[in-house]
Amino acid sequence: MCGIVGYLGKNRNALDTIISGLEALEYRGYDSAGIAYVYKNQIQIKKKAGRISNLKEILNFSETPFIGIGHTRWATHGEPNETNAHPHHSGKFTIVHNGIIENYIDLKNMLEKKGVSFSSETDTEVACALLNDIYKTEKDILKTLVKAQDLLIGSYAFGILCEDDLNTIYAMRKSSPLIVATKDNDKFIASDVPAILSFTNEYYLLDDFDIAILKEDTLSFYHPKKEFFQKEKLLFEGSKESSQKDGYEHFMLKEIHEQPKVIKDTIHFYFDGTKESLFANLPDLEKYQDIHIVACGSAYHTGLVAKSLIEELADIPVTCEIASEYRYKKVFYHSNTLVIVISQSGETADTLASLRKAKEDSIDTLAIVNVIGSSIAREADKVLYIKAGCEIAVATTKAYSAQVALLSLLALKLAIIHKNISEEEFTMIAKQIEELPALLEKLINQEKYLNIAKKIYTRDDIFYLGRKLDYAISMEGALKLKEISYINSVSYPAGELKHGTISLVENSTPVIGILTDNTMREKTISNLKETAARGAYIVAISNEEIKEVDELILIPTVHPLFQPLLAIIPLQLIAYEIAKLRGCDIDKPRNLAKSVTVE
Ligand code: F6R
Repeated sequence: MCGIVGYLGKNRNALDTIISGLEALEYRGYDSAGIAYVYKNQIQIKKKAGRISNLKEILNFSETPFIGIGHTRWATHGEPNETNAHPHHSGKFTIVHNGIIENYIDLKNMLEKKGVSFSSETDTEVACALLNDIYKTEKDILKTLVKAQDLLIGSYAFGILCEDDLNTIYAMRKSSPLIVATKDNDKFIASDVPAILSFTNEYYLLDDFDIAILKEDTLSFYHPKKEFFQKEKLLFEGSKESSQKDGYEHFMLKEIHEQPKVIKDTIHFYFDGTKESLFANLPDLEKYQDIHIVACGSAYHTGLVAKSLIEELADIPVTCEIASEYRYKKVFYHSNTLVIVISQSGETADTLASLRKAKEDSIDTLAIVNVIGSSIAREADKVLYIKAGCEIAVATTKAYSAQVALLSLLALKLAIIHKNISEEEFTMIAKQIEELPALLEKLINQEKYLNIAKKIYTRDDIFYLGRKLDYAISMEGALKLKEISYINSVSYPAGELKHGTISLVENSTPVIGILTDNTMREKTISNLKETAARGAYIVAISNEEIKEVDELILIPTVHPLFQPLLAIIPLQLIAYEIAKLRGCDIDKPRNLAKSVTVE
């Protein structure tokens, strides 16, 4: 959430470099953007509400500053206008910030009593004024930052410039990601790797309370407990191409098309077709009799898929909870409970807090994460990475599928442990895994989705129905549609609609049914018919012929472990085509941002 980029060096123009970095991070927030740079020995601040393109219009790229910090914002405190845009300035300090300062009202009151006035509604301006206030007594920037760490409650990644040291960028973090990189004596800070990939794939990941000091000839790291120390350099293993559109109209479409490969890569990283590989590459699961899965949004939906698969195949009770609830509710752990947290970004605040809650109670934790070295990956007892690469579209597709693929392997391993899978079934599963990418390719490259989208894209409400595993899949279908098309789409367990919500069904209301579970098919068909009797327009996604519907999308029959991977494809593509027909900003839906680092 919010993107930060900073640059210091003689090889490039700071304005170009920061803007291109911010553009690579725009998926983290796009309410406003701003930049501060040193020109003619003074800090200049330029900012604009709206997209980075608005900011570009007011920049003079013929100025060639060598140092600057920039920001693209997802508003938390204060509306997304120019005044609230970052950078913020107070006295000698100018900062960009990602995170939330929770005690900013107390700090603001304290500073106002000292005569400080504020122009924005942001917590960031308060943090900036705090630095300036401390500096008046400390008269040393590093000491000021260390002292500020004691006073600031909440989360922050800061890029900092100070009038008294115009040749240096300071950066520090707590609970919000920040990286530092260097290449040919150029120095960079960024809130995420894509911002620096055009220059280098080597970086340093700041830990909580680390302070980075970037100067022309030196890069140093300081921590209040360790003082100056050496940091380990990390290598980004993905490719730069993953942050380019590669000829696709949208990142979302590109990422949908990447799913066959991403699923294959994720599965093959842990499974080579033998049971031995599952036992060698996935954590020991023998002792767990009870599993809690905790996540947010689409990651929560993958948890629901996993719950259904694990309970059906391995006979183990699974609780799946939304992290923002789980972190505050009374939770019942047993001595052999395993808590699995799922997060693409590895930085989602509520998921991280839920992980910490389980750890405080000494419960074993396992994280399923995409971003290497992210907070959740580092704090969990064990981590399994999905192999999705950089996901840029705000609405997740390939990370969702990679999570489902990996969770299916966990379900398979648990089913083997609990002796619920015969040799024949295992052999069939191993064979089907090899066939999956081709089946997915074929399903992705169908024209049907656009035709269906054309019939329903003007509607205000769309319902998604399914039972059990199909209900879990339908939840993700409904979320995909609502977040990118702004159509009010909701999913219901198919049998539940008649207990109230069916009153919303009227002539031509689209109802999308998911029917991949043979044991539930007839029941769901009956529920679809109930809506058809009230005029609904029925689209069915099924692995068997169904006559009684307006549109049928036939998907191949595979083992239940992999059925969700196939069923989600039409749902993603129908949502995509509808959003496109409605002229929506598909990769950057309104009000959203990727990586939700605030609660
Ligand atoms: C929806 C979407 C979100 C995320 C959620 C959790 O398309 O992307 O619902 O799934 O914000 O994010 P992560 O997986 O980063 O924890």
